Amino acid sequence: MNVLVTGADRGIGEALCRAYRARGDRVVAACFGDSPGLRSAGLRVEPSVDVTSTPTCCALADRLRRTATRIDVLINNAGVAALDRLGSLDYDKLRRLFEVNALGPLRVTEALLDLFAPGARVAIVTSRLGSLGDNTSGGRYGYRLSKCAANMAGINLHQDLKQRGIAVVMLHPGQVRTAMAVLDEAVQGVEPEVAAEGLMRQIDRASPNEAPAFVHAKGTLLPWSCDDQPDFTGQASLQVPQASRPAGVKLTSALGTATRRQARRNRIGRG
Ligand SMILES: NC(=O)c1ccc[n+]([C@@H]2O[C@H](COP(=O)([O-])OP(=O)(O)OC[C@H]3O[C@@H](n4cnc5c(N)ncnc54)[C@H](OP(=O)(O)O)[C@@H]3O)[C@@H](O)[C@H]2O)c1
Repeated sequence: MNVLVTGADRGIGEALCRAYRARGDRVVAACFGDSPGLRSAGLRVEPSVDVTSTPTCCALADRLRRTATRIDVLINNAGVAALDRLGSLDYDKLRRLFEVNALGPLRVTEALLDLFAPGARVAIVTSRLGSLGDNTSGGRYGYRLSKCAANMAGINLHQDLKQRGIAVVMLHPGQVRTAMAVLDEAVQGVEPEVAAEGLMRQIDRASPNEAPAFVHAKGTLLPWSCDDQPDFTGQASLQVPQASRPAGVKLTSALGTATRRQARRNRIGRG
C-alpha cells in the first residue's frame, strides 16, 4: 500500500510514517521542511511541501506521476495551532490557521486527485476542537474555526469522491505530546506513536459506502454539530445516524458520564 502523509517532519506525522513503514507499507513523507531522519530510515521523503502553496502541492503531484506512484492512503496531517482570546483577536493569524488547517487538506487532496488508486482512503487529521457539538469552553477561535471548516471540507470530499470508491474520514488524534501540545500547559497527552496506532486503525475501517465519520483515535465517534449536543442531565442524546457509524466504532458519547467527562476535558485547552 502507498501512504502519503503531510506535515511528516515531526510529531504525529512522523510517527505515522514510521508506523506504516514498520507495517510494510510504502510511505511518502511529505515534509514542510525536510527529514533526514526519515530518509535515513529508508522512507521516500518529499521536502518543501507547503500545504498553503498550490505550486508546491502540484510539484509533489508531478514527482509522484513521474515515478508512477498511486496513492492508497492520503493523510492530511499538517496543521498549526495558536492560542487566542476574544478582545485581542489577530485576524491575520486567524487567516493563517485557515490556510493551513482548512484549505491545506483540500488543496493537497485536489492536487493528487488523479493519483488515487481505486478504493483509496483520504484522512484529515482535524480536531475535537472543530466539533460544534463538543464546544463547551469557547476560546481558540482560529483553531476551532479552521478545524470545523476542515470537517466540512471532508464531508464535501466524501460527496464528490464516493462514486470513485474513495473513503474520507475525519480524525481526532486525542491529546498528543508534540510540539503543538506544548502550547497547552495542562496537556497530559499520549505519545505520538500511540496516537498513530489508533489513527491507522480508524483509517483502515473507513469505507466510501458509509457517511464519513468524525472519530477519535480511540474509536469513539465525536459530535459534528449542536444537534448531537449531549444532554447533561445524564440521559443519552447524541444523535449519530447508524449509517454514519463505521463497523467496530463505539458510541461511548451516548453515556452521560462519558459525556460529562468529555466536557470536563474540553475545559482544558487542547490541540
Ligand atoms: N497534538 C495534539 O494534541 C493534537 C490534537 C488534536 C489535533 N491535532 C492535529 O494533529 C496534526 C498533527 O499535529 P502535531 O501534534 O503532530 O503537531 P506538530 O508536532 O506541530 O506537527 C505539525 C506538522 O505540520 C507541519 N506544518 C506546519 N505548517 C505546514 C504547512 N504550511 N505545510 C505543510 N506542513 C506544515 C509542521 O512542519 P514543521 O515541523 O516544519 O513546522 C509539522 O511537521 C495537526 O493537524 C493538529 O492540528 C493534534
